[in-house]
Amino acid sequence: MAWNADLKLDPASGTPVYRQIADAIVAACRDGRLSPGMRLPPTRDLARRLHVNRNTVVAAYEALAADGIVTSHTGRGTFVAEPVAAPAPARAETGDAWPSGFSRAVEGSALAGLLSAYRVATSSEGISFAGSYPAAELMPVERFRVALDAVLARSGAEVLSYGSTAGYAPLREWIAGAMRGRGSDVSADGILITNGSQQALELVFRTLLDRGDPVVVEEPTYTGALSVLGSLGARMVGVALDEEGMRPDLLAVALERHRPRAIYVQPTIHNPTTRVMSRRRRLDILALAERHGCAVVEDDWACDLRFEGEELPALHALDGGRRVIYLSTFSKKLLPGLRVGWAAAPRPVLERLVALKQVADHGSSPLLQAALQEFLRDGGLEEHLARVRPAYRERRDIMLAALGARFPGGVSWTRPQGGLFLWVTLPEGVDGNDLFVAARDRNVLFSRGGLFHSDGSGQGSLRLTYASVAPARIEAGVAVLGSLIRERLAGAAAGPGPRAADGLPIL
Ligand SMILES: Cc1ncc(COP(=O)(O)O)c(C=O)c1O
Repeated sequence: MAWNADLKLDPASGTPVYRQIADAIVAACRDGRLSPGMRLPPTRDLARRLHVNRNTVVAAYEALAADGIVTSHTGRGTFVAEPVAAPAPARAETGDAWPSGFSRAVEGSALAGLLSAYRVATSSEGISFAGSYPAAELMPVERFRVALDAVLARSGAEVLSYGSTAGYAPLREWIAGAMRGRGSDVSADGILITNGSQQALELVFRTLLDRGDPVVVEEPTYTGALSVLGSLGARMVGVALDEEGMRPDLLAVALERHRPRAIYVQPTIHNPTTRVMSRRRRLDILALAERHGCAVVEDDWACDLRFEGEELPALHALDGGRRVIYLSTFSKKLLPGLRVGWAAAPRPVLERLVALKQVADHGSSPLLQAALQEFLRDGGLEEHLARVRPAYRERRDIMLAALGARFPGGVSWTRPQGGLFLWVTLPEGVDGNDLFVAARDRNVLFSRGGLFHSDGSGQGSLRLTYASVAPARIEAGVAVLGSLIRERLAGAAAGPGPRAADGLPIL
């Protein structure tokens, strides 16, 4: 039955009509009548069918888009965005009995969407290619303990007190020095230390955007950025990539049409596609941003994790730090548990970021920042990188060899020059959501492509992390995926393709 066949609107109800329409769509998402990627009727058609003004339907779609339940694309329509599971564990966890309501950012299916984006498998029995974690067994635990002991012994009371909101000064100095070494014009007072670069993303977008403001994102892009933007009610305008990175022709149209305040990009080892933006493309993007008076938010999460290819300058270095806000992190190259990332930004932006950081948490842990700085000062990072880069390259090669041996023709994948994962494109007839369910039943997990798309698409792709998986398990897990893909291809050749299961799982 069509999701809106029995939809009855009550103009006399205290609930505005647009909200009744939006609620009906949320209900249809919950009970499976609408599923991710499905297109909603054009506003004009639905308005005619429901005998309401078209603006009422537009308002309903906008409210749903603000909650991250649907995504709208000029010229293509409005699509259901995220998997919304019928059993809705999120509701049970938060308690249905809560009496006074929630903000729209965490209401109903918006919450389910956020949880689905963030919950990552921790099953020790299975093989997980999901998440983007560094290898736990390669972590420099002992060396970090020595650094921690040293700062506690030397300046215990100082590092156990509240610190500066902008961050521990010697760590800001170290970071600014490292960035200058890569050609950026930046000093310590242009750096804000954050709780991971996830917080940097949140503070930056909060600083730049109001609810409903457009922002350009690469399509696909990092799930965590999509979640931040969704929770802030930003309007995401996806721009496709080609082999060289974000396409400047499409970016030019998006800038012209939507007049966004910011473009969010990952030029080096893009998550999830692993592409590296060419030098020429970097300059093109900066020139377009300049022409349209737009900020560029550069997420350089993998800058030290390249094990191949030419080192290219960050957009921040190319632009002289004028309109680029640069974010990076110690999570992937070192220790995610420190929760230390940073933003480098021009003074007016930094001032505001610091103000919002103060509101958020009064500053990151001085103890952990000081221990990290001690570790960095003593050369701990270089030593660690010299260990992990070859290990990650070896794991990448093991995964590439396993994919070549186990995956059928028609599947393609990237050969990343660094980082923690690679990106797989499935052939026609194989649905990534369906594959996910089948693989999970065989104790193999991966990140579904749909998580990285702002437009509800991505069912034909998946991301496989190799860095945190032991070599023998890489081969075993890829073998399982290969056999499941073959089964599906055989099924597709024999008849209609498999349908993605309702109540899509989290990851
Ligand atoms: C592209 C990208 N940016 C930012 C982050 C945030 O990481 P963290 O908060 O640990 O620095 C991640 C984590 O996966 C990421 O992949």
